[in-house]
Amino acid sequence: MIKTLTLTRPDDWHLHVRDGAALSTVVPHSAAQFGRAIIMPNLRPPVTTTAQALAYKARILAAVPHGAAFEPLMTLYLTDRLPPDEIARAREAGIVAVKLYPAGATTNSDAGVTELRKTYPTLEAMQRLGVPLLVHGEVTAPEIDLFDREAVFIDTQLIPLRRDFPELKIVFEHITTREAAHYVAEADRFTAATLTAHHLLYNRNAIFTGGIRPHYYCLPVLKRESHRQALLAAAVSGNPRFFLGTDSAPHPVHLKEHASGCAGCYTAFSAMELYAQAFDGMDALDKLEAFASFFGADFYGLPRNTGTLTLKRETWTVPEHFAFGEAELKPLGAGETLGWRVI
Ligand code: DOR
Ligand code: ZN
Repeated sequence: MIKTLTLTRPDDWHLHVRDGAALSTVVPHSAAQFGRAIIMPNLRPPVTTTAQALAYKARILAAVPHGAAFEPLMTLYLTDRLPPDEIARAREAGIVAVKLYPAGATTNSDAGVTELRKTYPTLEAMQRLGVPLLVHGEVTAPEIDLFDREAVFIDTQLIPLRRDFPELKIVFEHITTREAAHYVAEADRFTAATLTAHHLLYNRNAIFTGGIRPHYYCLPVLKRESHRQALLAAAVSGNPRFFLGTDSAPHPVHLKEHASGCAGCYTAFSAMELYAQAFDGMDALDKLEAFASFFGADFYGLPRNTGTLTLKRETWTVPEHFAFGEAELKPLGAGETLGWRVI
């Protein structure tokens, strides 16, 4: 039985760190595990200009502990009116991607896209300049069943988008269904997907076991077990177009444990431990390094990291909470035991 696992230092290709006082809690957690992370732009107001993204990057860097090397990779938030010429400026400034939130799909998405056609001039510029589009792949029409939103998005939005922009790099973020895993597996080299640890470890029963459990509520929502199995198969398949993105999304405890609780699981504190648990369960620890440390960098055309991260087989208990500004932050699996630990 493998007792320790040393990997090339991994990267998180999908992360929410928020802003202000929250940064000093969550940035050190990610910096302890990852070399780089793609930072989501769904602040209030959203990060829609290069100047805002660079200012936000500086605030994140100020929260990185001394001695840690952690590079935030910045993104812009796509709106109906993001000017095409902002893309050239963004690329010049090292901004790595643009994020599509369908309006109303999730946390702070009200400024998101109401109709994809409206963004076509901007997507044209992105395709031309090689700037990837990161997609929250859910439709928002209220008549569509919540659990079908991702599958319907593929048929009604993603397939036409791909037809109209055959060489636009697209990352289908935090996929949750068999349909999405199949779509990406069958796609060409311009399409990839991120997988979260929580969608690999839990099915939708987790939200309802023994009462409603808001800390397991995220978007896209957890799906049934057969979908989880399809995601696990994709994660350990060795296909380089599936890679790690935690979608760690911190919210204060009082807004999670609420009559209309916020969507998001906070996994950054024990991210690699959670992924190790999932891969170990598939007897596929040998596949973890490429998934966590190689495939994402390769897709983005960035160098792989040079440092390492070591995990040890050891049981430990996830802390109950962290201070989070004036509030508290509960990590996913608080008080539960994990079988791997970063050392
Ligand atoms: O669960 C989620 N939380 N899904 C998202 O798409 C956004 C995120 C957040 O920002 O809280
Ligand atoms: Zn996200």
